[in-house]
Amino acid sequence: MGSQIARAAIANGYEVVIANSRGPETLKHLTDELGPSARAATAAEAASAGDFVVIAVPLKLVNNMPVEQLAGKIVIDTNNYMPWRDGRFPMIDSGEKTVHELRQEQLPGSKVAKAFTHIQAPRLFISSRPPGTPDRHALSVSSNYPEAIELVTRLYDQFGFDTVDNSPLSESWRSGPGQPAWMAHEHQTHAELTANLAKARRIIMR
Ligand SMILES: NC(=O)c1ccc[n+]([C@@H]2O[C@H](COP(=O)([O-])OP(=O)(O)OC[C@H]3O[C@@H](n4cnc5c(N)ncnc54)[C@H](OP(=O)(O)O)[C@@H]3O)[C@@H](O)[C@H]2O)c1
Repeated sequence: MGSQIARAAIANGYEVVIANSRGPETLKHLTDELGPSARAATAAEAASAGDFVVIAVPLKLVNNMPVEQLAGKIVIDTNNYMPWRDGRFPMIDSGEKTVHELRQEQLPGSKVAKAFTHIQAPRLFISSRPPGTPDRHALSVSSNYPEAIELVTRLYDQFGFDTVDNSPLSESWRSGPGQPAWMAHEHQTHAELTANLAKARRIIMR
């Protein structure tokens, strides 16, 4: 998802610094493909470099994000909670917290926005349409910070999507895996996404 967002960002005139867990030397094939608007760095360097930062990395119980370098920044988080992949988080399973509230707690100095979670990576290009296109595909954003919602709305519009604001982060479960908004990832308009978010029913796992 991170490399696909990088492709969309570069197509819209952004410069991108990209990182993974193994080190910049392992990203050469990707930066070669992305061209002169991209460079690879460590996660801490990428976090420092960004005007804003995208995290396309599962949430871990042990916080392995560059917290200090992300402080003061808007952090767009694409993570979907997948217990089969991530292990089980009792606070999420009980409905006490959403996964993005936990990410916000892990990054107390940052402004976290949940975004790009209910679109499959290839559809960032396939489903993209210019502003004003009738029945344009819509994506949701959740954040506790208006400036983060504003940034994601601008980015979605540049990338070719309408926005439905599903804030704050405590409501972000509505767009999570298995919910109607998530299942309708192939296409949903602003009105359909709004209706699908309203139809969501919280899943409590015991
Ligand atoms: N794929 C989709 O279509 C899609 C759509 C919507 C949302 N999402 C969500 O977005 C997240 C990423 O999904 P994905 O499919 O892109 O996963 P992925 O292909 O496994 O990529 C995850 C990336 O995160 C990097 N990474 C892991 N831990 C890191 C750390 N501590 N610091 C820096 N980089 C780290 C990995 O680097 P290494 O390989 O070096 O470990 C890898 O490049 C998931 O939560 C997923 O549920 C995915």
